[in-house]
Amino acid sequence: MQIAMIGTGYVGLVSGACFSEFGFDVTCVDKDAPKIENLKNNKIPIYEPGLDSLVEKNQLAGRLSFSTNLHHAVKNADVVFIAVGTPTRRGDGHADLTYVFDAVREIAQALSGYTVIVTKSTVPVGTGRKVAEILKTENPEAEFDVASNPEFLREGSAINDFMRPDRVVVGTMGVAAKEVLEQVYRPLFLIETPIQFTSLESAELIKYAANAFLAVKISYINQIADLCEKLDADVHDVAKGMGLDKRIGGKFLHPGPGYGGSCFPKDTLALVKTAEMAGAEISIVDEVVRYNQSRKHSMASRIIKHFENGIIGKKISILGLSFKPETDDMRDSPALEIIPLLLSGGAEVVAYDPAAMEEAKKLLPEEVIFAQDAEACIKSADACVILTEWNEFRAITSAKFLKLMAGIIIVDLRNIYVPDDMRNAGVIYDSIGRA
Ligand SMILES: NC(=O)c1ccc[n+]([C@@H]2O[C@H](COP(=O)([O-])OP(=O)(O)OC[C@H]3O[C@@H](n4cnc5c(N)ncnc54)[C@H](O)[C@@H]3O)[C@@H](O)[C@H]2O)c1
Repeated sequence: MQIAMIGTGYVGLVSGACFSEFGFDVTCVDKDAPKIENLKNNKIPIYEPGLDSLVEKNQLAGRLSFSTNLHHAVKNADVVFIAVGTPTRRGDGHADLTYVFDAVREIAQALSGYTVIVTKSTVPVGTGRKVAEILKTENPEAEFDVASNPEFLREGSAINDFMRPDRVVVGTMGVAAKEVLEQVYRPLFLIETPIQFTSLESAELIKYAANAFLAVKISYINQIADLCEKLDADVHDVAKGMGLDKRIGGKFLHPGPGYGGSCFPKDTLALVKTAEMAGAEISIVDEVVRYNQSRKHSMASRIIKHFENGIIGKKISILGLSFKPETDDMRDSPALEIIPLLLSGGAEVVAYDPAAMEEAKKLLPEEVIFAQDAEACIKSADACVILTEWNEFRAITSAKFLKLMAGIIIVDLRNIYVPDDMRNAGVIYDSIGRA
């Protein structure tokens, strides 16, 4: 089985490497020539634990290769996965399908023999049918089927998620494509992974419905956390008590500064747009989109409120920039909203992140000072803000904060410290949803 993976980003690279680990011959294609050159030399463009050794091992074994030549990879492939980006379209919130359709037009010209073209990118309902139309128009002779196989991996634990997923969802239009994808996912079927076959439309919607549900869950616990603060309750106790109910489950009940990342913000917005176009109500998700955005702003106000006379000239250190730990992904990270508000209030912002600083430098205002490590970041700060819960920050003690900082304010937007420990040491400790 020959697989071509079009798009070698977080999803394409992980999926391609994992399929080669299953024993298939995989060519990962990308338009970004320097990225492909680096990958040929086992230089991984993203921070994803375990990916470097997986890529190296499978390249060495001759099962995994990297190329900018889409035509060649597709011509030889039995299955072509599309894993290009589907960001929010500027101005209207719909998913931007430019990259997908551009790739499809290129694929059409290269098809040779029966091929299954699979969208792994997150795409709105109806995209698979449009992909089939484009392929037919561009290459009427081609023998192909289109399938949808949304990806559920999480950055930071992507390899494990791909190798041991909760489920695999495959939407097809016919039996032939189903049989090919059964072969592709046979290694997961053998370890009893539930593999759900559906229509194209259902598969496409499952991905959005799942992501939006998780975004709702996060926003719900964030609102409960705000309520806890008013009522002297502890959100962790409340979340635990809720999560022990099997109908609810304990995951995604951790309060924070609002969700970010490359998926939830754009996918919730796109789902709202899909519902709007279909004439169906999805007001719950609509409200979550609005609330999550406003939450990031309210987090900046929360930090600023600690300074009676404003933050002009105050040194605020930020620990963590990526949208979550164990990734360098900065897309829609709360840091991108909160830090500019602190800067515009007149603060001096010093930031540190174990993996995302290179990405952050491209996206944050140039006034931000980047520290080489956590200690340098908090040194002589008037306040320290925890924005991402990297493990290395958990080990910083109250004594260390007080020794290094000029001030005594810690705003912990990820609740990684014990309030009593911090307060007993003399820290003004502000965390989310805890008295
Ligand atoms: N990142 C995640 O955690 C995650 C999880 C599940 C699903 N998804 C979905 O998977 C898709 C890809 O996401 P990502 O984070 O991997 O994106 P990404 O931006 O990291 O990577 C996309 C890659 O595609 C390449 N590309 C674009 N057009 C191309 C073309 N015509 N030919 C070859 N390469 C091309 C780009 O150069 C880039 O390297 C999106 O639809 C996303 O919503 C992402």
